[in-house]
Amino acid sequence: MGNLMAWIDERFPATKMWNDHLAQYYTPKNFNFWYFFGSLALMVLVIQIISGIFLTMHYKPDGAMAFASVEYIMRDVPYGWLIRYIHSTGATAFFVVVYLHMFRGLMYGSYKKPRELIWLFGMFIYLALMAEAFMGYLLPWGQMSYWGAQVIISLFSAIPVIGDDLTLWIRGDFVIGDATLNRFFALHVIALPFVLVFLVIAHILALHEVGSNNPDGVEIKKNKGADGIPLDGIPFHPYYSVKDIVGVVVFLFFFSIVMFYFPDGGGYLLEHANFIAADPLKTPEHIAPVWYFTPFYAILRAVPDKLMGVGTMGAAIVVLFFLPWIDRCKVKSIRYRSVIFKVNLTVFCVSFVVLGWLAMQPATEILTLFSRIFTFFYFAFFAVLYVTSKNEKTKPVPDRVTS
Ligand code: HEM
Repeated sequence: MGNLMAWIDERFPATKMWNDHLAQYYTPKNFNFWYFFGSLALMVLVIQIISGIFLTMHYKPDGAMAFASVEYIMRDVPYGWLIRYIHSTGATAFFVVVYLHMFRGLMYGSYKKPRELIWLFGMFIYLALMAEAFMGYLLPWGQMSYWGAQVIISLFSAIPVIGDDLTLWIRGDFVIGDATLNRFFALHVIALPFVLVFLVIAHILALHEVGSNNPDGVEIKKNKGADGIPLDGIPFHPYYSVKDIVGVVVFLFFFSIVMFYFPDGGGYLLEHANFIAADPLKTPEHIAPVWYFTPFYAILRAVPDKLMGVGTMGAAIVVLFFLPWIDRCKVKSIRYRSVIFKVNLTVFCVSFVVLGWLAMQPATEILTLFSRIFTFFYFAFFAVLYVTSKNEKTKPVPDRVTS
């Protein structure tokens, strides 16, 4: 084995990469469970790619055959039902894990200097993930696939001057049809997974350049021993490679419960209307996106004007990119930040969840009013953060991490 590794190392930096990124990559010793979600996101990405490859073996990206091919996978292909439910549950799991991962970043100020690029790559991942999920949802060619895509693509027509041409160009036809399905398939199966994998590699390289933050927000590189190793650091492998297995087991436990017992999530994960083949002549009564898009959909519906609605929804996502510069507080972790910050972050998270719920309800007058109020709270988070963070009253941050 030694000789073989030496032979490889002379030609390819295998041992160097292993050491740089795992065995000699020093990570803060005070990680808590919030630090599971990055590796879990990585695992879900792999699960999605592998299950997706197997689905593609029997799926037909053709307006006349797509719905039936999915039924065929569910009923006739050996373990086809399992592969499909792994993939559909995986989509939900991906967003659960990524939202928790982002929330961790907000709590511990992981987007702050010197980690701005990690955050920006993360935000691009998030955008790519939304596009990936949206295009994937068209593929079963059910009623909700069809009409959901219809609603979202037609939003582009609100753009002045080029709107109508742009919509036509995206659809590839005057209505959502075979051309749309085919191009969404190409993007979902090839283009976007490539983009995602590339962005994740960039995300992790940026992380390993500066090193991880931690629940105390203390830079471990500032306290190094005589050997040049951070005093509060432990090698990622074996310490966290083993610890992450605990997260994986707990995750797979919940994943299996959903996949085997509630794969449709009561209509929230696989919507009821999607068990009916797409019918361009019949609009479903309620069109709502899947849960992970609903907060933004609520913001869209809260604004009466179509163009303004699209703009506000876009702004709700774009503003997140600027977080490293909106938050001007020197202290990173919520542990040492002011009550104002804690309240502000709580209101923001509650608003996000409530908006998500509101979008699943019929747009009555009173609920629309609530959507407007919570949209206001959503944006107020950033305004309050910008104003209060500069001279925030913080607690003293310890020099070393606390265990
Ligand atoms: C496919 C999706 C993603 C994957 C596979 C991924 C992977 C990872 C991994 C493995 C880590 C190191 C372990 C950890 O800190 O949990 C990490 C850290 C980080 N990620 Fe992600 N990530 C993803 C999406 C995102 C998104 C959407 C954001 C935010 C917009 C984000 C922001 C961050 C930040 C700020 C860190 C540094 C955390 C710290 O050091 O405290 N990531 N990511």
